[in-house]
Amino acid sequence: MTVPDPLLDAVPEHYYVDNEHRGETLHRSAAQAIHRDVIALNVGDGARVLEIGTGTGYSGALLAAHAGSTGHVTSIDISDHLIGWANRLHHQRGVTTITCHVADGMAGYPPHAPYQRLVAWCTPPRLPRAWVEQLTPNGRIVACLPIAAQPSTTLIATITVTAGQPHIESITFGGYAQSTTVPVDDALTIPGRWVDYCIQQPEPTWISISWRDRDDQHHSGARTALNLLLNPGHTETYAHAPLDWLSWTAFSVIVGGHHRSIAALRDGIRGIGHTTATSAAVILTDSTIIADSPHSASLTALRTWLGRWEQAARPAVDWFTSTLALNEDDDLPAGTYDLRTTKVQRPCELVAQAVINLRGRLPAVDSARFGRGRRFGEGTAEPPSGPRLASIKRPEHPAARTCRHPTRSEPLHPPPAEPHPQSAPATPRRPQPCSRTGRSDPTRARLRPPPPR
Ligand SMILES: C[S@@+](CC[C@H](N)C(=O)[O-])C[C@H]1O[C@@H](n2cnc3c(N)ncnc32)[C@H](O)[C@@H]1O
Repeated sequence: MTVPDPLLDAVPEHYYVDNEHRGETLHRSAAQAIHRDVIALNVGDGARVLEIGTGTGYSGALLAAHAGSTGHVTSIDISDHLIGWANRLHHQRGVTTITCHVADGMAGYPPHAPYQRLVAWCTPPRLPRAWVEQLTPNGRIVACLPIAAQPSTTLIATITVTAGQPHIESITFGGYAQSTTVPVDDALTIPGRWVDYCIQQPEPTWISISWRDRDDQHHSGARTALNLLLNPGHTETYAHAPLDWLSWTAFSVIVGGHHRSIAALRDGIRGIGHTTATSAAVILTDSTIIADSPHSASLTALRTWLGRWEQAARPAVDWFTSTLALNEDDDLPAGTYDLRTTKVQRPCELVAQAVINLRGRLPAVDSARFGRGRRFGEGTAEPPSGPRLASIKRPEHPAARTCRHPTRSEPLHPPPAEPHPQSAPATPRRPQPCSRTGRSDPTRARLRPPPPR
């Protein structure tokens, strides 16, 4: 049971989100998600808090209310426009315990460190070590972290830092839009990280494949897979509709191995499933399954994955277990941590798994074969190589990006037809030439070759 928190009512949301002088701002998170994460952060009276992703200013105002008159909130955003407005709105309300600054949150904010609490409303590629280092002992972080090198594949983690090391306290399903290195002002286009092929016209569509290391340099496999999904030769309704999208998102990382793929198709509708360079099948948020053909190898694989998901009773978040692993492969100054998710192994499941492996003559999972910070999921149905986080060697160069990030509050997986009540409406976009993120996004260029087999 959730304990009511009177401080959540202490701030007028409308004042920040749709201020009469500024108008409505698209850079906002769903109020429900903000409330959940502010409660998880557990901000005490007098706390020093770092907020990454100021947006409207609403979440910062809530944090300031929790930190009280002796606390202080430092709020940073990549956009100077948003920072200007947030400072003004706080000032007009007479809130003096929050200061907003323009900065890239991936480096934290050293001038005001240390902090007892840190919360991020945008998703970094990995947990930056700077965040950990800027916390006081027993400090707490609430942040959305990727569980695979694919967009919209995240969990919200509550992390405590003891003896300089971050530990996961709990996880919950959910997500926020990706962090960016430059301010973006359009509402929703194409994520800047881990999109392997995108088409801008007639409307933005994209695909992210976890077998990108095996694709050719022109990303023609990803392009074919996206085209197959845009022109499916087979459509059916999932027999066990409706889908539990958040559970499926996380489970598919574990069961999907290196063929897990996520695509945003027409009308922004999302699908998660199995693709190769010659076949493709995904289940959409509205429980429709589409595939290149009724005899598609990808369709067979997807049905197997869905069967395993149903067998596992559509796991809730406590079915998953997550750990943080230091990723020293990065050459970012302070390194980063990968969030790795597996399933909670109960003894009976270990036995069942062994039986499945024997029957299907599938290779047993051999974690020793995988490099540090590289493995996600167990890959039971496929050769043991899960989607991996791209290695980020240096910050993205803004000029190198051709596809822009969504900037609005993006519920992790919005339902296809009806927009999320808290999400901002999409703004009209000017036509743009077709661009391949794969060619120009340095994140992809920095992907390392698959681990030796
Ligand atoms: C969903 S919005 C803001 C949410 C805020 N909690 C609210 O509801 O008003 C996410 C914000 O993160 C900011 N952002 C994105 N990348 C960032 C980065 N690297 N450093 C700091 N802020 C960033 C965006 O400009 C945007 O304002």
